[in-house]
Amino acid sequence: MQTAIVGLGRMGMNMALRLLNGGHEVCCYNRTFEKAQQLAAKGARAAETPAELVAMLDAPRLVWLMLPSGIVTREHIELFSGLLSAGDILVDGSNSSFKDDDANRRILGEKNIHYLDAGVSGGIWGLRVGYCTMVGGERDIYNHIQPVLETLAPEKGYLYCGPCGAGHFTKMIHNGIEYAMMQAYAEGFALLDSSPYRKHIKLDEIAELWNRGSVIRSWLLELLATALAEDTGLQGLEPFVDDSGEGRWTAMQAIESGTPAPVITQALFERFASRGNADFSRKILAALRNQFGGHEVKTTKHAKD
Ligand SMILES: NC(=O)c1ccc[n+]([C@@H]2O[C@H](COP(=O)([O-])OP(=O)(O)OC[C@H]3O[C@@H](n4cnc5c(N)ncnc54)[C@H](OP(=O)(O)O)[C@@H]3O)[C@@H](O)[C@H]2O)c1
Repeated sequence: MQTAIVGLGRMGMNMALRLLNGGHEVCCYNRTFEKAQQLAAKGARAAETPAELVAMLDAPRLVWLMLPSGIVTREHIELFSGLLSAGDILVDGSNSSFKDDDANRRILGEKNIHYLDAGVSGGIWGLRVGYCTMVGGERDIYNHIQPVLETLAPEKGYLYCGPCGAGHFTKMIHNGIEYAMMQAYAEGFALLDSSPYRKHIKLDEIAELWNRGSVIRSWLLELLATALAEDTGLQGLEPFVDDSGEGRWTAMQAIESGTPAPVITQALFERFASRGNADFSRKILAALRNQFGGHEVKTTKHAKD
């Protein structure tokens, strides 16, 4: 099925390659044209501008955005709403907030262009393993693009999740769970690292072991085994953990719906703390212990004489 991919980053490039490998016709546009040319060398058709991309497609056109969520995706939806025609389809495959979807659908809907929101999971492994894909929007449009989903996903690895927003909502919760699972592994391995048995324990071997029949086996644990085998003490890493939004949105959804999600929320807060954002509260704790009990504090070089 002819598909246009917009955004050839870590995700879009490999998704386009998977579609090419699966026998689809792929057209592409990327802000940095060299990446589109790289893909053209593998069989895609590369456009230098969004207008050129749209001109090379057969109606009804299928355009799949794989861009940073938020303003960049919104700008491209506005841009393509002016280039595509009634009956065409635009899929937002980014990690957009489900709260953006209704506005995106309305912008495109004014021109009778169909909109699907697709949460895509698989990261840099998706090219080989396939992309688990969660789709929201009109069911018949989902049915229409199934050949593309079938190729992108592993076997049975895509699902119609519901109306507009349901795909990104499902992906948001998926990522929230990912935060909590990662946090649980991180804490467990930190406890192993500080244990009295540490000098006998090989952390990568434990990660490998637990992937063989244990109830906590998982793909994340396989990745951890690889990371620990490469650098046992993770000496080369700063203890700094970024986040890209979905954990915050999940925590806010928990608050808005009154649904307790303490583990996911705590995992998010641990990431904030990893960036030094808990330092002031920790200073307050030290100051209070000092004030009420005269407990010793450690001073910095900026401390007053
Ligand atoms: N990486 C993952 O594991 C993963 C997993 C699931 C979902 N996602 C989501 O998938 C989307 C893409 O992620 P990615 O990892 O592929 O990102 P990426 O590697 O950083 O690539 C970003 C892409 O967007 C383009 N882009 C960035 N800013 C732009 C702008 N202002 N105007 C036009 N194009 C712009 C880049 O073009 P240039 O080449 O010109 O820079 C590039 O093609 C994001 O929404 C992300 O959250 C990522």
